[in-house]
Amino acid sequence: MPFTAIILAAGEGTRMKSHHPKVMHKVLDHPLVWWAVNSVRQAGASRVIVVVGNGADEVRSYLADADVEFVEQAERLGTGHAVRVVRDAVGSFQGPVVVTYGDSPLVRPQTISALVDATRAAHAACTVLTMEPPDPTGYGRILKDATGAVTGIVEEKDATPEQRAIRDCNSGVYCFCGGRLTANIDKVDNKNAKGEYYLTDMVGIYASMGEPVQAVACEDYRELLGVNSRSQLAVATKIMQRRINEELMAQGVTILDPDQVWVGPEVSVGMDTVLMPQTFLWGKTTVGEACTVGPNSRLENAHVGNGCVVDETIIQDSTIDNNVKCGPRAYIRGGAHFCDGSKAGTHVEIKGSEVGEGSKVPHLSYIGDARLGKNVNIGGGSITCNYDGKHKSHTEIGDHVFVGSDTMMVAPVTIGNNALVGASSCITSDVPAGALALERSKQVVIEGWADKYWEKLEKED
Ligand code: UD1
Ligand code: CA
Repeated sequence: MPFTAIILAAGEGTRMKSHHPKVMHKVLDHPLVWWAVNSVRQAGASRVIVVVGNGADEVRSYLADADVEFVEQAERLGTGHAVRVVRDAVGSFQGPVVVTYGDSPLVRPQTISALVDATRAAHAACTVLTMEPPDPTGYGRILKDATGAVTGIVEEKDATPEQRAIRDCNSGVYCFCGGRLTANIDKVDNKNAKGEYYLTDMVGIYASMGEPVQAVACEDYRELLGVNSRSQLAVATKIMQRRINEELMAQGVTILDPDQVWVGPEVSVGMDTVLMPQTFLWGKTTVGEACTVGPNSRLENAHVGNGCVVDETIIQDSTIDNNVKCGPRAYIRGGAHFCDGSKAGTHVEIKGSEVGEGSKVPHLSYIGDARLGKNVNIGGGSITCNYDGKHKSHTEIGDHVFVGSDTMMVAPVTIGNNALVGASSCITSDVPAGALALERSKQVVIEGWADKYWEKLEKED
């Protein structure tokens, strides 16, 4: 059922103590507002309207490609005012309208779609999502008559002691009938303890008009936790971390310690893969089956095939195919591509390069802007000198090339198939296929020289 979603995100978030608007703070690798937009989208929202105010520019630019509309609420006069400003901006609402908060990242899409379905089934003017948190302090309380029908919502500040004893709280998530919301939102006034236009008043207004209103309970109050402080941000992050990790484990991923693995919401991991502690999988990372990732690894927009080992390694915006071994302590970035069975060893950095099938860069190397053919071996400490201070240049290395240790390859340069480069060479011109290239001075050996030297040093004492 398509619906319109309004995400209230104009609040100041003073308790965050930040130069950034509250909704830009992250749970895992995504800002709070991303989570809010994502849940309503997944629930089927056809139109998403984000109400911005504080830090509006930052929120707008972050969501520039997210296919959402923005409505600016210049003065924040309350949640009811925010919805009225949206109505004024769009003219009128059609179909169901879900209202939710930009600082509530944990609301499940199923919870929202169930709320929309319940509203439609009852032809309700409003369905309010309720919850029973262990401590109801600060929340609006749900008022019901003797028959159990919802009659209104009273805010904590306006509540009598008896009303404060009510455990049933307003989550702040609602589904309204768009037509009736358009017609009645102006009825909300600001005659209350805070002098704000409360959206919650719509419930009482409808009840007194005889319009059907209802409450739907959310089983898990933690879905509705809002983030007002850094401490609550950490709580929300922990809940989301565990939720995602539980889901992965249910799909056949082994996680040694689910408190020490952080996986973003857009990541996929295949069966029989093991995630070791201190592993971060961010962005649009995909990991195949039967891999071991971690410990101490960070993958950002990385694509990992099947049967790979990623040990204490960072992979950014790069792809490794199947049965590739990385690390310990490799740094792979900038569109690097490792083909099947290749290897990035220890203390190596590989940037924007293709490493062909079965090729190995095992120790202490930098390979940048290069293409390595199949079954190449790069000796320890070898470097592609790809930068002259202004330009980046390419190094081309053919199949079955053996590069000796401590070789500098000054790009642009090409080393042909089956060539061999002697250790410690500085290669500045092309090496033909099948050739040996050697660039180093002849070794000097002076018999007995060292013995005399040590003797001389000893006499000095
Ligand atoms: C609101 C509800 C309360 C409910 C609670 C659940 C009202 C009057 N009260 O209280 O019943 O239990 O949520 O969390 O709605 N916002 C705007 N523009 C405004 C005012 C608020 O965008 O003019 C946004 C804020 O950024 C915030 C959200 O709406 O994310 C909630 O606003 P706030 O005034 O803090 O309401 P609560 O006191 O939390
Ligand atoms: Ca040398």
